[in-house]
Amino acid sequence: MSANLLITGATGFTGTLFCQQLAHAQPETTATILVRPKSDRTPLMALNLCLSYEIGDGSEAATWTRLIADHQPNTIIHIASIRHVPALLAALQQHPQTPRLIVVGTTGVYSQYNQYAAGYRQIEAQLADYSGSHCLLRPTMIYGSARDKNLHKLIQFCDRYHSFPVFGSGRSLLQPVHADDLAEAILTAYQRPQVTGAYDLSGGSVVSFRELLALISRLLDKPVRPIPLPLRASAIAAGLLETLLGRRSPIRREQILRLQEDKAYPHDAAHRDLDFAPRSLAAGLQAEIAQLRA
Ligand SMILES: NC(=O)c1ccc[n+]([C@@H]2O[C@H](COP(=O)([O-])OP(=O)(O)OC[C@H]3O[C@@H](n4cnc5c(N)ncnc54)[C@H](OP(=O)(O)O)[C@@H]3O)[C@@H](O)[C@H]2O)c1
Repeated sequence: MSANLLITGATGFTGTLFCQQLAHAQPETTATILVRPKSDRTPLMALNLCLSYEIGDGSEAATWTRLIADHQPNTIIHIASIRHVPALLAALQQHPQTPRLIVVGTTGVYSQYNQYAAGYRQIEAQLADYSGSHCLLRPTMIYGSARDKNLHKLIQFCDRYHSFPVFGSGRSLLQPVHADDLAEAILTAYQRPQVTGAYDLSGGSVVSFRELLALISRLLDKPVRPIPLPLRASAIAAGLLETLLGRRSPIRREQILRLQEDKAYPHDAAHRDLDFAPRSLAAGLQAEIAQLRA
């Protein structure tokens, strides 16, 4: 395995789980971790890894230039954000090294609404042109603990209010991926240098939004009533709120429209090359709800 390993996003939800799995699979691995000045390193402290920290900003080429010159990484595991990739590639152009890049992207690249989807596509194209070995891992919505920004909030709301608004039909599909399964896929990609290219990493179950609410209801053992809201009127109202409140608006028109898109993606390629076998949503949510109760 690569001697000079550089990891970003290690203090985040997925990054912490990845580091835990790395410590378990390859104890005492040496790695440099890019952190921001206020990153909370506490979850990494007790791990059986030999970590050194560099403070910087992954969105700035100057950070990457310094890191690459000082550490000469053989592998960069970039979990923080695919949006930093242009800065990383710009810095790499100034150096003779071509480290292997493992980048966590997003299936948001497939969205027809997402204002960033076009940007993601451009960044992916830049990454595809990189002359060194690279592997792009695209998770769907990530869930799995109180640190997830998605399903945990949904579960808490359903637990408290026994209902949830459903914009439109609620029949569009979701396939959330558990953060531990994603972390394991990142580890496998690291351990298999021959693996290159892009992989969609979706969860073990495909559900509609209404089915998701029914599943949460069953696991909470509480009723959760879907409150149907008309799509067009909701989108217009959200657009008005955005005009009035700008960034302070609690919901954006595009978010509502995106809820109508199917977000289920096969992960056969990841299963074949990374042995990716994600857990079922019921199993993942059951553990998350047990954590919530504890
Ligand atoms: N969450 C989802 O549902 C979802 C879905 C699809 C794709 N993704 C992608 O999956 C990856 C992991 O997501 P996550 O939810 O686990 O992330 P997260 O919990 O939000 O953590 C992000 C990590 O990146 C670091 N970071 C952010 N901006 C940075 C910068 N400018 N410079 C250096 N470090 C920076 C954060 O540092 P601090 O500790 O300082 O904050 C943190 O360690 C991300 O690339 C995300 O875009 C997420």
